[in-house]
Amino acid sequence: MIYNTFGIPATADRFIELHTLDDLRQLLDSKLLQQHPFFVIGGGSNVVFTRHFPGTIIHPANRGIALVDGPSADGSLLVEAAAGEEWDAFVRHCIAQGWHGAENLVAIPGTVGASPVQNVGAYGLEAKDIIHTVRAFNISNGEERIFTNGECRFGYRSSIFKTDLKDQYIVWSVTFRLYKSFQPCLQYQALTSALQRQGIENPTPQQLADTIASVRWSKLPRPEETGSAGSFFKNPVVSRQHYDQLIARYPDMVAYPVPEGYKLAAGWLIEHAGWKGRNMGRCGVYDKQALVLVNRGGCSGAEVLALADAVTSDVQRLFGVTLEKEAIII
Ligand code: EPU
Repeated sequence: MIYNTFGIPATADRFIELHTLDDLRQLLDSKLLQQHPFFVIGGGSNVVFTRHFPGTIIHPANRGIALVDGPSADGSLLVEAAAGEEWDAFVRHCIAQGWHGAENLVAIPGTVGASPVQNVGAYGLEAKDIIHTVRAFNISNGEERIFTNGECRFGYRSSIFKTDLKDQYIVWSVTFRLYKSFQPCLQYQALTSALQRQGIENPTPQQLADTIASVRWSKLPRPEETGSAGSFFKNPVVSRQHYDQLIARYPDMVAYPVPEGYKLAAGWLIEHAGWKGRNMGRCGVYDKQALVLVNRGGCSGAEVLALADAVTSDVQRLFGVTLEKEAIII
């Protein structure tokens, strides 16, 4: 079985699936993770394997979604989901139960356990907006810790689990704050236009989720058809001064103001560097969204890296902007 959505065959010294808390405790007691390198993989939707991994791949496969508190007086409720649950199935389960607030994150590949680690986001919502607490286990002493939302130090596609506490905790479950009443999050332009085109003014949760999924699949490759890691790069942030220079030269460049300056649409930069739809070796830049690198059939991790380097250096040369990879390279 290939545990990565890029569809790159890869091997490791060991692969361990964790179904129960006992499985996790046994692994932590064994001290295996102190002796050899390890990597925790969820749906493998954000990794590119470039070599044999000389260590242990851990795959949390625990299951369960439960209402653990509420609804309280304000209609909020807490829902705990196991790390091994498929993210999309979790979102759809919440919609079916009438637990609202996660709709915009429908159809994102991956697992619940990965959602706080990289603060997944799309269509105007990020996981951090609905995460209440994260239950995780310390790899060196086996202790359980509940991280509050603030303690997770969420950032753009980032959290404490990717920064200060990288490789120190295994996320076991995530508790989300959702609501009985449905308040659609409709900030994202392409989403509101898609609803308008269908003549929908006040979408039901299901209509919202269906519209988001259709917007998503109109721009992004479906993992079951085309291998990719979703957005391969992050959207880069540049200073106001750098932005002013660029916008003077490229008035149609897509950018959004952020506290540190401007966030540029990496897809726009890559497209205008001439890479959209181009192939190199057996991989390529997706023709509908240049932020996504795709497997054109049998590509290797090394080929993906070569393409990423070529794209990065062209963007650097043309715009003076350094693209950072969102995908994790192993
Ligand atoms: N654009 C181009 N050319 C392209 C791609 C995009 O000009 O080839 C322009 C678009 O026209 C648009 C702007 O760039 O004006 C932004 O594009 P889009 O709305 O598609 O969003 P994005 O910033 O490229 C981010 C996330 C996606 C998420 C979408 C929708 C990152 C790295 N990516 O992409 O997340 O689905 O917003 O919210 O932040 C993922 O992380 O794997 C992922 C798919």
